[in-house]
Amino acid sequence: MSKKDIAKKNSAKKEAAKKVLWPESLSEIIKNQLSLLNYDINHLDKLVPSIIKQSNSYNSNTNANPWASKASQAAYLAYFFPLNTLRLMSVIAEADRLGFFNNIKTASELGSGCGTFDIAYSAIKKTPLIKTNTELSEEAIKIHKIILKNVPSIQSRFSDIAPTSDLFIASYALNETGFNLSLLKNYNNILILEPSTETHSRNLIKVREELIQQGYYAWAPCPHNLDCPILKNSKKDWCHDRVFIDKPTWFNKLENKLPNFNNSLTFSYLLLSKRPSPVAGKGLVRTIGNTLKEKGKHKQMICLNDERLFFSWLKKNGQPQFLNRGELFYAPIDSEKKSNEIRPTSEVIKYSSPD
Ligand SMILES: C[S@@+](CC[C@H](N)C(=O)[O-])C[C@H]1O[C@@H](n2cnc3c(N)ncnc32)[C@H](O)[C@@H]1O
Repeated sequence: MSKKDIAKKNSAKKEAAKKVLWPESLSEIIKNQLSLLNYDINHLDKLVPSIIKQSNSYNSNTNANPWASKASQAAYLAYFFPLNTLRLMSVIAEADRLGFFNNIKTASELGSGCGTFDIAYSAIKKTPLIKTNTELSEEAIKIHKIILKNVPSIQSRFSDIAPTSDLFIASYALNETGFNLSLLKNYNNILILEPSTETHSRNLIKVREELIQQGYYAWAPCPHNLDCPILKNSKKDWCHDRVFIDKPTWFNKLENKLPNFNNSLTFSYLLLSKRPSPVAGKGLVRTIGNTLKEKGKHKQMICLNDERLFFSWLKKNGQPQFLNRGELFYAPIDSEKKSNEIRPTSEVIKYSSPD
């Protein structure tokens, strides 16, 4: 391939960010739930103060109860529920690509809210799941039970105690309940989604390190079972993914009234299993940062082993590759390593799935 062709291909890649598609059924579910609370999905201006209040409470770690009033329930359903569904869809799609759900028939979720995981799972996977949900709020459980009518593949029940099952799930919940390692150790497979803040993400990495010592294997985002390079080599960095999303008109209209836009979504996640990971030790790299322009080069943070590393493309060698964040790539064999930089000398190739 000529340099011109490579440059053309790379500039196309620059536009090709990892994207999660908003399922049509999600808007329909939200519309119906909002209408039960007397809100019209196309006129949500009056929910703006409740969304801002809830968001501020999450940002200050006071975690106001979203199920306390009709307005806060509607705010959660219109805003936080769809965004968490899309985050979970990204994690579930990655887990599915790696074969993480093979032989998983039962699951237990802590802090299941109104059924965010169930909607995300059914958007990606059709295989049945028998699931037990542990949720403090009776109101959330009521909404979850209605939402479950849209998810025939999941057989859900509710319990005060999470029973042992094939998979432990927690989405934006452990930051509220705290990490209970003796609970997590009851499960052979673990899927955790957490907010992408320094504190929550670094706590999640500490759980990774502890559970690896207890015999678990990291499946994602880590492409290895060694110490986490971020925790080991940096006091402040944290590991988080970013995906781009398509938003329906009603959501854009609502977001236009909010101080923040979510053209992309960030989150921290962890997939652990007692089964060895099919990708660990295969020389794969996960991109864990955006491509950043520096003097004379473009750099992108990567995870390969326990070193804090970057792909680095020097300007003098031509165009950089703009690799999607959060994806797995083959570590280039013919690259040059200089300090913490791996400088690819040929095209970095995307990894698709285990054989
Ligand atoms: C931020 S919401 C997340 C809901 C849902 N998992 C999601 O991703 O959208 C946290 C949920 O955890 C629930 N929760 C908090 N502490 C809990 C506990 N100790 N046991 C069970 N549920 C809890 C809250 O009621 C709330 O529904």
